[in-house]
Amino acid sequence: MRAAAIIVAAGSGDRLGAGLPKALVPVAGLPMVAWSARALAASPEVECIVIACPPGGEAAMAAAVTGHAEVHAIVPGGSSRQRSVAAALVAVPEDVEAILVHDAARPLITPRLVSGLIARLPSSPAVIAAAPVADTLKRAGDSGAVEATVDRAGLWGAQTPQAFQAQTLRGVFADADDAELDSATDCAGMAERRGVPVLLHDPDAPNLKVTTQADLRLAEVLLGTGRIA
Ligand code: C5P
Repeated sequence: MRAAAIIVAAGSGDRLGAGLPKALVPVAGLPMVAWSARALAASPEVECIVIACPPGGEAAMAAAVTGHAEVHAIVPGGSSRQRSVAAALVAVPEDVEAILVHDAARPLITPRLVSGLIARLPSSPAVIAAAPVADTLKRAGDSGAVEATVDRAGLWGAQTPQAFQAQTLRGVFADADDAELDSATDCAGMAERRGVPVLLHDPDAPNLKVTTQADLRLAEVLLGTGRIA
């Protein structure tokens, strides 16, 4: 399937405390977003990349990916992740059959993962990277003490990329109102709410989301030592 990829990179990165947008923070020698742009550009199915960046940060984003990927458009993102996806979606060419949405905060994405998702897409409107929950889950009460142990059977952690048949993703966003764009935390959740079946696809490789300085150090190690693509 001919695919476009949206990289959402408009987050502030306040929790990382690096003093610049998270997507531009260096990881193993490259701006974080460049790792995702490179992997998507190296995926044979992906023919177009659109990036949502912090408003006013278009030139810095272009500089960060130059030499790593041909980018179709860089657009100002919105005040929530899903508003950033909506802004990028407008710039995706009409004729693609599949659209992937990926967080710049997950630099360990590989062409193998991208191809694995797209390969399952013709028979399902949505396929997302996700991993079964390995930890025992606790629900905390207000005091910080454990209130309950949650059964983890059947629970998965959703990741990105999330791949969609193009008309499915466009339909979901055409139907969404402001409240949903402010509150939803991923595209798959918006699709599920409309009855779209969403397949889970285990990357079978680390695909961590960089949120804290500790995550950043781990990503440095994993990207710096050469991964299995
Ligand atoms: O904040 P968090 O790490 O959960 O954000 C997930 C992804 O969404 C990041 O890649 C971030 O850059 C992006 N994002 C965005 N626009 C926002 C907020 C987050 O593109 N307003």
